[in-house]
Amino acid sequence: MLEIGGVRVDTLAKTYKTPLFVYDEDQLRSRLQEFATLFRSHTMETGILYASKAFSCKAMLRLVKEYGLCLDVVSGGELYTAKAVDFDMSKVYFHGNNKSKDELEMAMAYGVGTIIVDNLMEAQMLHEMSQTIDHTIHVLLRVNPGIDAHTHKYIVTGHVDSKFGISLLQEKELVEVIKTFDEDEHLSFDGLHAHIGSQIFDKNAFVAEIEKMFGFIKHLEDTYDIHLNTLDLGGGFAATYTSEDHPIPLDEVCTTILSHCEKQNQALGLSIQKILIEPGRSVVAEAGSTLYTVGFMKQTPNKNYVFVDGGMADNIRPALYQAKYNADIANKMEAPKDTIYTVAGKACESGDILIEGIALPKCEPGDLLITYTTGAYGYAMASHYNKNPLPGVVFCRQGKVREVIRRESYAHLIDLETDE
Ligand code: LLP
Repeated sequence: MLEIGGVRVDTLAKTYKTPLFVYDEDQLRSRLQEFATLFRSHTMETGILYASKAFSCKAMLRLVKEYGLCLDVVSGGELYTAKAVDFDMSKVYFHGNNKSKDELEMAMAYGVGTIIVDNLMEAQMLHEMSQTIDHTIHVLLRVNPGIDAHTHKYIVTGHVDSKFGISLLQEKELVEVIKTFDEDEHLSFDGLHAHIGSQIFDKNAFVAEIEKMFGFIKHLEDTYDIHLNTLDLGGGFAATYTSEDHPIPLDEVCTTILSHCEKQNQALGLSIQKILIEPGRSVVAEAGSTLYTVGFMKQTPNKNYVFVDGGMADNIRPALYQAKYNADIANKMEAPKDTIYTVAGKACESGDILIEGIALPKCEPGDLLITYTTGAYGYAMASHYNKNPLPGVVFCRQGKVREVIRRESYAHLIDLETDE
């Protein structure tokens, strides 16, 4: 029987029901520690902002806090979760291309340290709103460097017409925004932010991003006398989903990024003092798995289906991005994988296929099917489609289980419905 964090998964399934997100807490911890240890430089200040959109809950944010990382939030809800664990607000960075006035007010009231401004209208709104505060908010400006990181097209955020950030080609607008900040005594403009995509395997994409950004910073200095001290390079480091994925080892990606930034500083005579990264997926993906119970099976002329009690509602990634996953039958780990299955979910949707053509031991109803690397953008993107309750989430460590998010009941599903 498969164990995670020293806990048998059949015990988990029995106690917490399936589908269930199961995290190996030691794996989460060692990943956070690795980032904290590896992303360091002798010559520059560094910061790691955990992108909480990948997986945000109180237990996760408490771990992020424990390892001293900063936090990237993109909504009032993620910010509220940070507040709920008393996260040091000076270490919170607020992202988003369409923050509402309410969200910005909330950020100001909470004392959020840095706001990443996405566009001209946001800059103007922030400038107006900042007149009423009595503290300083740090500001980064999101730019779009136009780098194609060769990932799935839905996940690329860096092409010229992206909805995120101001393109480096729109220099006038960029300079106008920076001038708005300069005139504001409550806003301290620190520098630029860029994010070139997600699930990036090629470290040269980051090198290209760094060269482009430093080149532009030099241009701002020479042409407009604008001096910056911070560069936020975004997230995007890949995780291993199947044996076809070979992410750049973390030490290599950290060294590449930092040494290139140091080199660029020297070569261009710049003095960028702070380099930030925003990993989400690479922190949490591999530590998480999803446990399902096998129900019916059926054969069609060309396929062998095995149906599980979850699917696209708890993992939209295969349907949305054609993402690939690996799986096992957790109660048959030693059995020969002699049957090719299509693993399908229970949603009323033909596209609700979790895995196409995977070799597994012969399945029977009641078997526990586990999909790996579901720790990022799994629970975070889960929905109530077909009115199924959201699964629970447990953290397992050294033989002990913590239920960090309870499974929803049917009552939760109609909790907000009125009798009007
Ligand atoms: N920073 C910014 C500004 C971002 O937009 C993102 C992700 C990150 C950091 C974190 O990226 P990561 O290290 O996790 O790749 N739902 C998609 C991924 C969307 C990513 C959106 N932005 C998926 O399931 O693959």
